Amino acid sequence: MELLVEGKGTLQGEVEISTSKNAILPILIAALLSEEEVCIHRVPEINDVEIVKKLLKNLGASVSKSQGQLSVKSFISNIFPDYELVRQIRASLLLMGPILATRKTVKISLPGGCAIGTRPIDLHLKGFEALGARIKLSGGNVIAQARELQGNHIYLDFPSVGATENLMMAAALAQGTTFIENAALEPEVVDLANFINRMGGSIHRAGSNLIKIEGRKRLHGCTYTPIPDRIEAGTYMVAAAATGGNLLINNVIPEHVKATSAKLVESGAKVEERDKSIRVERLGPIKPIYIKTLPYPGFPTDMQAQFMAYLSHTSGSSVITESVFENRFMHAQELMRMGANIKIEGRTAIVKGVGCLGGAQVKATDLRAGAALLIAGLMAEGTTCIANSHHIDRGYENIVEKLNGAGAKIHRG
Ligand code: EPZ
Repeated sequence: MELLVEGKGTLQGEVEISTSKNAILPILIAALLSEEEVCIHRVPEINDVEIVKKLLKNLGASVSKSQGQLSVKSFISNIFPDYELVRQIRASLLLMGPILATRKTVKISLPGGCAIGTRPIDLHLKGFEALGARIKLSGGNVIAQARELQGNHIYLDFPSVGATENLMMAAALAQGTTFIENAALEPEVVDLANFINRMGGSIHRAGSNLIKIEGRKRLHGCTYTPIPDRIEAGTYMVAAAATGGNLLINNVIPEHVKATSAKLVESGAKVEERDKSIRVERLGPIKPIYIKTLPYPGFPTDMQAQFMAYLSHTSGSSVITESVFENRFMHAQELMRMGANIKIEGRTAIVKGVGCLGGAQVKATDLRAGAALLIAGLMAEGTTCIANSHHIDRGYENIVEKLNGAGAKIHRG
């Protein structure tokens, strides 16, 4: 599947942000913690949600959708999720927590290599062992078994989002109290904690680096609306600045995009925060800036590719350091095909601004790289053809319609 992007598109008008991919994926999986019905509202039409729906059904849950809301009634009859589904998304790793917590045994294939570096699961497994599980690796699968899960004090060597979420779900039904120290602070972790508490869980201080979870015997059903997608919002904010446009982005929590707003202002754009929306405008030249990706509330790694595209068109050199993943510069090659001048040295990219990018044939290597190429295509002279655009559809609901509604000219090839 390809996207054809006409260059020199200036974004004006408004876009509406959808529900957060990285909030709804763990929340749908956490529905497995109860056998009662859970109803999630404002479910986005994105491929990753479709895969998680298939995974839930593969485990024995019934999943039904009507008018943008998803009902999940789960009874886990299968503890070995289907490999063909698991290998498609890293988030399938999060199935371990609920299956271990409810069935005391789970077997799952080790996550495949990912375009953004090897992403080990040692912190997840260490945490499960601390809760009393025995871990075995065999035939490309990991098996975790526990007679009972016992609360414990877990220290995470790195504030891993997935490990924090996985362990929070397992601890929610463990005996006793669990502390997760050096926990991830991301808003999606807080949203998952709020959802589990809505199910009758007892999770305290999510959003701090010491989360306390008091295990419960069972959890009940509930209805819930996850938070808006801060990375989708950030992507449209950068696209507006990159095209010299003036765009109102609706359904945003400004607090969640503070780092993106700050870096856009530093680069010369105007950012106006309102209660649930943000207006981004750029009139003057884009100024070069320094970016270092960090765990939340630092600059998000999921916004790094989009800023690299934006900064390839400045009057000087910007420096981008990717400290979260070891191989998240795949988009640089593709941007260079469009005339960008980027030098990669280990985890640092030096982006020397060029007068203008030129449309070209390029390839999306992952979700955020695809978004970066879309932004570059809107900035460039001429037409850009983005191959493997299915990556973009994994996490951006109706992105072509939303951008075209704001003045872009993009169509699916
Ligand atoms: C989540 O991935 C997000 N995905 C990612 O978004 C995001 O980039 C990442 O958090 C960081 O913010 C979802 O929420 C579905 P991590 P996750 O565990 O949980 C290392 C997107 O584009 N690590 O915080 O996999 C790991 O290798 C995606 O929407 C270990 O070493 O991220 C990485 O270097 C991409 N051992 C770092 O921690 C472990 O056991 C951060 O990973 C786990 C992680």
